[in-house]
Amino acid sequence: MRIYVPGDAAAKALGADEVAEAIRAEADKRGVAIEVIRNGSRGMVWLEPLVEVQTGIGRVAFGMVQAADVASLFEAGWGEHKLALGLTEDLPWMKMQTRLTFARCGVIDPLCLEDYEAHGGFVGLHKAIAMTPEAIVQEVLDSGLRGRGGAGFPTGIKWKTVAGAAASQKYIVCNADEGDSGTFADRMIMEGDPFTLIEGMTIAGLAVGATRGYVYMRSEYPDAIRVMQQAVLIARNHGLLGLSVMGSGRAFDMEIRTGAGAYVCGEETSLLNSLEGKRGVVRAKPPLPALEGFLGKPTVVNNVISLASVPVIFEKGAAYYKDFGLGRSRGTIPLQIAGNVKHGGLFEVAFGMTLGEIVDNLAGGTATGRPVKAVQVGGPLGAYFPRALFNTQFCYEEFAGAEGLVGHAGLVVFDDTVDMLKQARFAMEFCAIESCGKCTPCRIGAVRGMETVDRIARGDAAAIPLLTDLCATMKAGSLCALGGFTPYPVMSALTHFPDDFAPLKEAAE
Ligand SMILES: Cc1cc2nc3c(=O)[nH]c(=O)nc-3n(C[C@H](O)[C@H](O)[C@H](O)COP(=O)(O)O)c2cc1C
Ligand code: SF4
Repeated sequence: MRIYVPGDAAAKALGADEVAEAIRAEADKRGVAIEVIRNGSRGMVWLEPLVEVQTGIGRVAFGMVQAADVASLFEAGWGEHKLALGLTEDLPWMKMQTRLTFARCGVIDPLCLEDYEAHGGFVGLHKAIAMTPEAIVQEVLDSGLRGRGGAGFPTGIKWKTVAGAAASQKYIVCNADEGDSGTFADRMIMEGDPFTLIEGMTIAGLAVGATRGYVYMRSEYPDAIRVMQQAVLIARNHGLLGLSVMGSGRAFDMEIRTGAGAYVCGEETSLLNSLEGKRGVVRAKPPLPALEGFLGKPTVVNNVISLASVPVIFEKGAAYYKDFGLGRSRGTIPLQIAGNVKHGGLFEVAFGMTLGEIVDNLAGGTATGRPVKAVQVGGPLGAYFPRALFNTQFCYEEFAGAEGLVGHAGLVVFDDTVDMLKQARFAMEFCAIESCGKCTPCRIGAVRGMETVDRIARGDAAAIPLLTDLCATMKAGSLCALGGFTPYPVMSALTHFPDDFAPLKEAAE
C-alpha cells in the first residue's frame, strides 16, 4: 500500500509530520505493509494535510487529515470516510488547471530521480544538449516566456545578452528570495520538484556558456533549502551536474546559498551583492547584471518559476507553450491565492483569467463570508484592486493598464473590514523598513509618506495632494522598484477607496 503525505512546509505546519508518523505506527500495529512517500503539495492548501492513497484507478485523496483520524482511516480501509474526497485528479481545483511547470509537483517523490524521469524529467535537457547554444536561446525566445519574478522581462532576450557577452566565466543565478506577501510558488516547486529547477538552470547554463550556478534562497525556507541541497548532491552523483553534464562534455555545476532575510535582497543587484558577501544594497544600472553581474561577470538572474518553466518548454516545444495565454503574456502562470479566502493555494493556469473569476470562483470568496473589498496583486508593491476592476484579465499588459502589476502572481484578498488608509500607511512603513537606503526618494520619502498618511488620518485635507506629489516623486526618482512601486498600493488605496480617507469622504458629503 502506497500512501502519500506531503513533506511540503505548509502541510507540515498543519500537522503532516504527525500524520505520517501516525500512519507508520498504525500500519505497524495492524501488520499492514505500507510505503509512505513524502511528496510535494498539490497546491490545495486549505485541504492540507492532503493524504493520498494509490489505488488501481488512481490516487484517492483525504483532506485535512490529522493524526487522530489515522486509526479510523485504516479501519475504513482508506475507502469510505468523512475525509474522503475521491480521486485527486477529479477534484475541480485539479481539473481546471493547466499544469505545465507544476505538472510533477505533488505527484512524484521529490528526491527520487527515477520518479522524476518516469514523469518526463530530463527530456528537455536531453533535447537541449543536442542543440547549439544559439538554438537553445531561440527556443526560449520563441516560447514567449517572460520573467516570473516580477518585472516580466523576456527571458530569451536576457539569455541572448549573456550568451553574446565575451567573458572567461559566466553565471546563472536563480532568485529564490520569494519575498512577496502571499507568494509560495518558488518554495512549493523547490520542495516538491527540485530537479525541475536544476534542469532549467542547467539548460540556461548550456545556452549562455555559464558553467556555474547559484540558487539564492531565503533563510525562512529551511525545508526548501534542505531539499534543494540534497537534490544538487543527487544530481551531481548521477553525472547530471559536473564537468560533463549527462556525458555531453559540457560543464555545469551549482550550489545553494542562503540570504539573511531582507526584502530588498530579492532585487537582482542587491541579491548579487549579498551573494558576493557584501551588504545587500542596490547597484545602479547600467551595467546590467547580464553584462556585469556576479563578481563582475555576465550573469543570468532569473526567478525560480522562470527557470523551472524551461524544461517543459523544451520537452513539449516552444510552440506548445506559447499556445497558452493571451496577448504578450504567453504560457501559464502559477497563481498563489492567499489572505482572507475560502480556498487558498496554488493554481496554475494560462494567462487571461479575470480577477473576478479567480477571487469568486477559485478562491470561493472570503473565509469570513463577508464581501470582498480589495485584492492586492503582485506583493507589497502591487496595487489594491476594487471589485469594479474585477474584469481585468490576469496578464502583464492588462494589469499595467489598470495601474497594477502581475508581479510574482500572488493575490491577497481582504474583506470589507479592511481599512485602506491603514493599508496605504503599511505600504509606506514597509518601504521605510525594507529600504536599502541608497536613494533619497525611497529612504526619506517612505518615512515622510507614513507621516503624511497619519496627517490624512487626522483629517488634514491638505495632506492629500502632498501624498500624491510624494508618490509621483518616489515613482519617478527611485533607483529601484522598492521605492518606485510603493506608490502603487498607496495610490490605488487612495483612488479606489476614497471613503477610507476621512477628508475625501467629508469633501464628498
Ligand atoms: C524590492 C524588490 C524585490 C524583489 N524580490 C524578488 C524576489 O523575491 N524574487 C524574484 O524572483 N524577483 C524579485 N525581484 C525582481 C528581480 O529584481 C529580478 O527582476 C528578477 O529576479 C529577474 O528574474 P525574472 O526575469 O526571471 O523574473 C525583486 C525586485 C525588487 C525591486
Ligand atoms: S528605491 Fe529604496 S531600496 Fe531601491 S535603491 Fe533606492 S533606497 Fe534602495
